[in-house]
Amino acid sequence: MISITINGREIQTEKDTPLLQLARSKGIGIPSLCFHQALLPYGACRLCVVEVTRGARTTIVNSCAYPVREEGISVETNTPQLRKIRKIIMELLLARCPEVEIIQKMAAGLGVKERRLPGKTDTASNTGRNNGNENCILCGLCVRVCREVIGKEAISFARRGAEREVATPFYAHSGDCVGCTACAFVCPTGAVKVEDRRGGIFISPWNTEISYTACVMCGVPVGPEAAGRYLKDKLSTLNLPADWLQLCPGCRRKEIAGKEGKYSFIKHKGEVDYG
Ligand code: FES
Repeated sequence: MISITINGREIQTEKDTPLLQLARSKGIGIPSLCFHQALLPYGACRLCVVEVTRGARTTIVNSCAYPVREEGISVETNTPQLRKIRKIIMELLLARCPEVEIIQKMAAGLGVKERRLPGKTDTASNTGRNNGNENCILCGLCVRVCREVIGKEAISFARRGAEREVATPFYAHSGDCVGCTACAFVCPTGAVKVEDRRGGIFISPWNTEISYTACVMCGVPVGPEAAGRYLKDKLSTLNLPADWLQLCPGCRRKEIAGKEGKYSFIKHKGEVDYG
């Protein structure tokens, strides 16, 4: 265990705990837009900046990407200098995505009263974003969840500088997408949208359409077909039968009730013995 102080409060922690996570676990709020504890830190938004003092030296670091390793460091999370930095960042984000509710709320919370800077759409050099997504803040959560959690690379960063954006290869339907919609789930600004379409879903701005698979017994939609294919290989590790994903929850229960032999690994209705 390591002992540090945050805002003058002594805190014990395990070595390598990310500072942001530690502060939040102790009820100390630090704003952030690109951190998710299921993902590796990326340091894109810079809202989580804190002051870390080691001996006589104070530095400003991204708390999400700062693992606590040294005994006795002292951390400040809300000094006038940090508030000023966060305010400038929020002004830039507000200029980029003025219509996004969470940006508006966070900006107001950090004292940004009005939009002062011109946005991308206001400048003469605007060439537009190829994927048409004006609400993306490039936090990279969607790209990272796809790669780190799902193990796919359906989307990635494209282009450079002011034109940087997240897109599928060639801005077309991504064959790597399994339709899990984790990208939409983690997106803080609502830039990724999932639309229900007859027989499937459409994920924008990825231009990706995924069809649903129908229950082989009753025909109701069970889930994205591509996700079923992707998960099929993993079923054996969970000791589940190969047709498990082709049945809707209702028919699974019926099958379990009627075929104790086939599904004998299930002890009671809906209870799976993973052992
Ligand atoms: S949360 Fe640390 S940089 Fe975004």
